Amino acid sequence: MRTAFISLSFLLAGSLMVPAIAHTPASKKKVATTTQKGKILPMKEYIDQLMAKMTLQEKIGQLNLMVAGDITTGGALNTQVGGDIAKGNMGGVFNIKGLDKIKALQDIAIKNSRLGIPLLVGMDVIHGYETMFPIPLALSCSWDTEAMKKVGEVSAKEASAAGINWTYSPMVDIALDARWGRISEGNGEDPYLSGVMGAALTQGYQGADMRTEEILRADRIMACLKHFALYGAVESGKEYNTVDMSRIRMMNQYLPPYEAVVKAGVGSVMSSFNLIDYTPATANHWMMTDVLRKQWGFKGFVVTDYASIAEILNHGTAKDLKEASEQALLAGTDMDMCSNAFVKHLEQSVAEGKVTEEDINTACRRILEAKYKLGLFSNPYRYCNAKRNKTDIYSAENRQIARDVAAETFVLLKNEGNLLPLKKQGKIALIGPLADTRNNIAGTWSVAQAPEKYTTIKEAMEKALDGKATLLYAQGSNIWRDRELQKNGEQGKSIAWGDEVKMKNEALQIAKEADVIVCAMGETADMSGECASRTNLEMPDVQQELLAELAKTGKPVVLLNFAGRPTVLSWEKEHIPAIMNVWFGGSEVGDALCDVIFGDKVPSGKLTTSMPKTTGQEPLYYNHQNTGRPVPDDNQKFAKFASNCLDVSNGPLYPFGYGLSYTTFEYGDLKLSSHEVNMDDWKITATINVKNTGSRDADEIVQLYIRDMVASISRPVKELKGFQRIHLAAGESREICFDITPEMLKFYNAELKHVIEPGDFQIMVGGNSKEVKTQNLTVKKHP
Ligand code: BGC
Repeated sequence: MRTAFISLSFLLAGSLMVPAIAHTPASKKKVATTTQKGKILPMKEYIDQLMAKMTLQEKIGQLNLMVAGDITTGGALNTQVGGDIAKGNMGGVFNIKGLDKIKALQDIAIKNSRLGIPLLVGMDVIHGYETMFPIPLALSCSWDTEAMKKVGEVSAKEASAAGINWTYSPMVDIALDARWGRISEGNGEDPYLSGVMGAALTQGYQGADMRTEEILRADRIMACLKHFALYGAVESGKEYNTVDMSRIRMMNQYLPPYEAVVKAGVGSVMSSFNLIDYTPATANHWMMTDVLRKQWGFKGFVVTDYASIAEILNHGTAKDLKEASEQALLAGTDMDMCSNAFVKHLEQSVAEGKVTEEDINTACRRILEAKYKLGLFSNPYRYCNAKRNKTDIYSAENRQIARDVAAETFVLLKNEGNLLPLKKQGKIALIGPLADTRNNIAGTWSVAQAPEKYTTIKEAMEKALDGKATLLYAQGSNIWRDRELQKNGEQGKSIAWGDEVKMKNEALQIAKEADVIVCAMGETADMSGECASRTNLEMPDVQQELLAELAKTGKPVVLLNFAGRPTVLSWEKEHIPAIMNVWFGGSEVGDALCDVIFGDKVPSGKLTTSMPKTTGQEPLYYNHQNTGRPVPDDNQKFAKFASNCLDVSNGPLYPFGYGLSYTTFEYGDLKLSSHEVNMDDWKITATINVKNTGSRDADEIVQLYIRDMVASISRPVKELKGFQRIHLAAGESREICFDITPEMLKFYNAELKHVIEPGDFQIMVGGNSKEVKTQNLTVKKHP
């Protein structure tokens, strides 16, 4: 291996030792900029030295990011990507699995390119690498920030052991419309929760605030906040659709989670596909520069989403790719993912004076800074550690963490007669198309998954029952009656296709023999995620028909609902005694489910999205405005000339924050340390007694909501402002305190100023957004 990075040829410059940098490609001498003690120079000096040696086209090359494609280790140089890297036309590659392949590309960058600048190597490590955690929406239902941090740490540990140094996560797009498939990739509908969870995940990935010069540990990777911004607001939940939103709404409801992740020190940001104020996000200067950099102080680099610069043409706001790339760069975009636009056109744009070399320097520097903080200039191979590659991926330790975290994400929606947990006895019938699939359980965006290593639900149950009970199994149904429809949601992760009647009969046969029926039904992994919008959120046809037949047997039925979004479970709520939303629980979901189903662990997940009664209610969210003619949720009668629908009452089937346990919790009265404060510097405490009134030790998620009763602009009926995940032993009670601070009462007013206005507020605490204890607080004007 070349050691050119610690070159011995120095020139003296001031007090620093500066390396001689060869200018001729023939000599292939690389940059090495070290101090007298052989340590790498401070970041600014290092990058100054390096950039002084770069040609304009080499600088532009750093702004280019491409998919690595299918390369072989021996033939990497002969591929398009390999050739581009050698020419210095590539700043990074992404979504490539395999240490050898990544090392082969890094080798080209180091040995074959003129300046030997190492590559960023990205991947959509969205909820784990090979050890897969539950999908992000499920993770958010844990309301467990420590768990989120762990998810980030383990994901980074595995990815960095496989050559990856950059992940395209966290995604904190607020999604209010469950028809949108990508609701599965975020933290649900609440801006505060989404920000807190996204920040924790970022800290886990990076282990450092990348606004500083700190070099990341070799088992940490750079995070990428996405999709900036407002992607979750696509009209009617249709993928890549138009977004149109007031600035007031952006500021109060959609932007806070991105800001929280920026403040957590995320190293990079990905621009979104959608329009913002009728300009594509990638070309939106106000969002990419004024808000992100000037207002929030973001210091890292902005990468586009996949081919977003090229898509500017389809949006109709640039006449050709050259103009689109100029717009993107000038807006504040630094790196071009897969449009090949910057490398093709920016040199010409500089020649024409459309952009300046200084604009390119700025973007290039930001990317080089990220490489510096990733330690790549000290050791370009620090993420290519063959030993770690063997020990750190899919290890027993990582899998145990994933199993524990998964158990926290299941949301128990209904448990009539305490049907769950099941006893390990008698005969259990396991039925459904998700019960014995290996490649679907990890969920959407599982780029590096290794399904051959995973245990299906059926296999896990057989192991858990260990001969104590008999497990009967039948697939029972396809996903959909229509083969094509099923394929749309499979995307290669196929579920065995069978004869509908035969499968149903087999299921009914074992149901007859069984004491209890457990159904593993719902969506496939890719019925949510990117480009997986649905217009009907009910259980797919054949599955619901089978479920109805099974319910008719009179045997107790437990429904494990697999879903990447809130689905409609109105029929199921009426007819099925026990329902648990299990989302997609990752590689260890089989064991995690058994832990909960058989009672070794107690479910504690709570919804982070409202679950609708019908699809037509979407977008549905708890923190809505009141309207001029409000009608309470679940009003029995339709109210003419009021804000409700003819055919379904207002409100969700299951509200935001909801989730049952195997125990019960009782909330005492809410107390405030003061009911009246003067504006400015104050802090009061809200206290509530929470008691575990059941017989199991368990976790509860205590939630704090606030409503601003009268303000200069209409404010939501309630907003989450805090939460605590607490553990209470059976019978134990505890005083839970929340500090209420002026910050919590602030909002962006019509002038987009972040203000607190005096007046009355309701402070609410409870176990979900609907059942709360309330007290009033008055903030008085200055006398
Ligand atoms: C998605 C991003 C993803 C990127 C790279 C895009 O299609 O929108 O979320 O990070 O591809 O794979």
